[in-house]
Amino acid sequence: MKKIAVFTSGGDSPGMNACVRAVVRTAIFKGLEVYGIYRGYEGMIDGEIKRLQSHSVSNIVQRGGTVLKSARSMEFKTPEGRKKAYDNLIAHGIEGLVAIGGDGTFTGAKLFFEEYGIPTIGCPGTIDNDLYGTDYTIGFDTAVNTALEAIDKIRDTAAAHDRIFFIEVMGRDAGFIAVESGIGGGAEFVMVPETKTNLDDVVKSLKNLRKTKSSSIIVVAEGDEAGNAQTVMEKVKAKLNDPTKDFKVTTLGHIQRGGNPTARDRVLASRCGMSAVEGLLAGHQFHMAGVVNQQVVFTPFADCIGKTKHLIEDHLKLMKILSI
Ligand code: F6P
Repeated sequence: MKKIAVFTSGGDSPGMNACVRAVVRTAIFKGLEVYGIYRGYEGMIDGEIKRLQSHSVSNIVQRGGTVLKSARSMEFKTPEGRKKAYDNLIAHGIEGLVAIGGDGTFTGAKLFFEEYGIPTIGCPGTIDNDLYGTDYTIGFDTAVNTALEAIDKIRDTAAAHDRIFFIEVMGRDAGFIAVESGIGGGAEFVMVPETKTNLDDVVKSLKNLRKTKSSSIIVVAEGDEAGNAQTVMEKVKAKLNDPTKDFKVTTLGHIQRGGNPTARDRVLASRCGMSAVEGLLAGHQFHMAGVVNQQVVFTPFADCIGKTKHLIEDHLKLMKILSI
């Protein structure tokens, strides 16, 4: 293998740049030519492919977002789109790919590999932490800390006004951000897509809490089956039926996707990036390079996207015990 390319795809996450840097520098260190594909699968289809040098990735390790840009490509979902992408890779002589992204990215990579056989190693880049095959994903730690900082600030004003706050965090299908920011931020309740929340329990707990605390924080993952934070607030407010209580909703939204990556994210990203290149050279073909129990592990894309990564049981227990 002489030429490889790297791209970022799907929702960006802090640490993607550190990962790109590690891929580029490891590839050059190993004597490979390395190319950057801009705007993910869209750029692969449109031929936005450029040779990268070591200096191309200088001064990016600390930056959020992705210098390669990102996109969610509809065209890549079509056989015609994938054929165009393949032709562009062949025109550049690219023999291996490193795909940095989440489940959508790996779904595309798996299909592309099955059709055209270009070896592809994935690096887990998503704030959601919802990928099987790695303890943490690149960007999760930063996103949790961003959410935590916001929760701390909201806690100040909630306490000053004796208010009940519903704070919506990201996590379309997974509650990892909600649970960790909830534990760290001392939330009274956390609602996640993985478990059904009985709103009567929330109401009961708010009634009990009122005896000991005047303000409350309820963290709601955006994908919760009871609805978004606004809907949940309205339902709980109606059930609680206490006009003396003041309810507020804050949706944290895309601030969770930006910002300088934490040290943990930069190190994880660098490690996955280096391992992805080493994995390609070692003959791995359709695997994600993740870190499990401190060790780099290569997991087939089919498992990364097909198997469920469960919330940590102790975290859920902690939420219950610590919120009394
Ligand atoms: O997958 C990462 C994520 O940030 C989810 O938590 C969120 O639901 C989604 O991306 C938002 O995507 P978009 O960038 O399309 O708004």
